[in-house]
Amino acid sequence: MKISIIGGSGIYTPLLIDEIAKLNDRLKVDRVILNGRSAGKLKAVKTLCEKLVRRSGQDIEVHATEDRIEAIADADVIICQIRVGGLEGRAFDEEFPREFGMVGEETVGPGGLSNAMRTIPVMLQIADEIERYNKSAIFIVLTNPCGMVMRAINRRYRLKAVGICDMPRNLINKIASFLKAESGEILAEYFGLNHFGWINRVYLSGVDVTKNIIENYEKIDTIIDKEIVKIQGAIPISYLKYYFHPEMFLTSKPARARELMALEAEILNEMQDGDVDRIMNLLNRRSAVWYRYIVEYIKALKDDDWSYHVLNVKNNSTLDFLPENSIVEVGCLMKKGVIKPIPVRDVPQSVKAMIFQLDAYEELTVEGILNKSCDTLIEALMIHPFVRSYDMAKSVLKKVLDGNRKMAFDFLR
Ligand code: G6P
Ligand code: MN
Repeated sequence: MKISIIGGSGIYTPLLIDEIAKLNDRLKVDRVILNGRSAGKLKAVKTLCEKLVRRSGQDIEVHATEDRIEAIADADVIICQIRVGGLEGRAFDEEFPREFGMVGEETVGPGGLSNAMRTIPVMLQIADEIERYNKSAIFIVLTNPCGMVMRAINRRYRLKAVGICDMPRNLINKIASFLKAESGEILAEYFGLNHFGWINRVYLSGVDVTKNIIENYEKIDTIIDKEIVKIQGAIPISYLKYYFHPEMFLTSKPARARELMALEAEILNEMQDGDVDRIMNLLNRRSAVWYRYIVEYIKALKDDDWSYHVLNVKNNSTLDFLPENSIVEVGCLMKKGVIKPIPVRDVPQSVKAMIFQLDAYEELTVEGILNKSCDTLIEALMIHPFVRSYDMAKSVLKKVLDGNRKMAFDFLR
């Protein structure tokens, strides 16, 4: 199998290679292609990846290229992890909403809209290249804001694309460890949108244990008030904290992007010396658990048995209260690459209303970006729970446009 990684010069890529090497007796990957724009970073990352492969005893060739089409054309699986605008862009997304008294986050609220505005045009270009040069490849989208990126791709292309986020799986693992079970023994009815999901029911070896989880929610997550979980009757992922308790996150703490910039500088410095263990220790300071999950997903593509994955896919009728064309994040069964999303019914009314509203927000945001329409973006912001007012929506949009223009992303051109 050949795997290409777009955004492969990201310094955390070696963690992905390490996960591939661990499972490679089953995966049988013989070639990994790293694609990135900076020759220097690509070379440093490639060198470390090669050392890790050698250490694992696996036979995987690591190839690096600045030519994206070369990487796309020659792959069975294409993983995309680009960050358009880099960490500077992320810092902007995380910081400017604070000026409006809103949570600043790279995927949530105004920060997520700003990120989507930079990212979607580039992702559409990549999707176009995949359609042209390698339509049958599996396309795994890690790039955020994953849900909106998938919506844009799905509007224009018919690719074998899925978006994968680690948060649902993290929640399921926590539930499993609370139940002292293996996560494979659990079936969770996970549903919602990316970074906006709940679990409706949990079954342990076929027995409904939802009530037990709801009553003990504080043992699973300590930030979201357990009373909310009881009131709603569904188990939220941790990202819901930004909606349930925004006041807690209106801090003057340095943005996450600033922490990552400092860590990146340290890692790049260490990479010059080349001590593998020291570099890996630094890389592991960022807990990039998603790499393990996507490698398990790639392994499952070939498996003869059904396995459970939470994926961002086209809704169809999985959630009957949302349009068919929406992108939803739901539990799916998969065997040999065939994906069967598990329909979820009996969703609590308040949860349904929240998802319905955010779905419309995401849909309008993507439409506004695709059509370069400020009116549609204002319409979107007016239904986001953080924004709501027309005047606020206008000011937020102006800030987003100005900020991105300063970073040389001129959305309206
Ligand atoms: C979670 C989210 C990802 C996000 C990541 C950021 O894992 O699911 O979508 O990219 O957090 O982690 P970071 O280390 O970049 O702050
Ligand atoms: Mn995510």
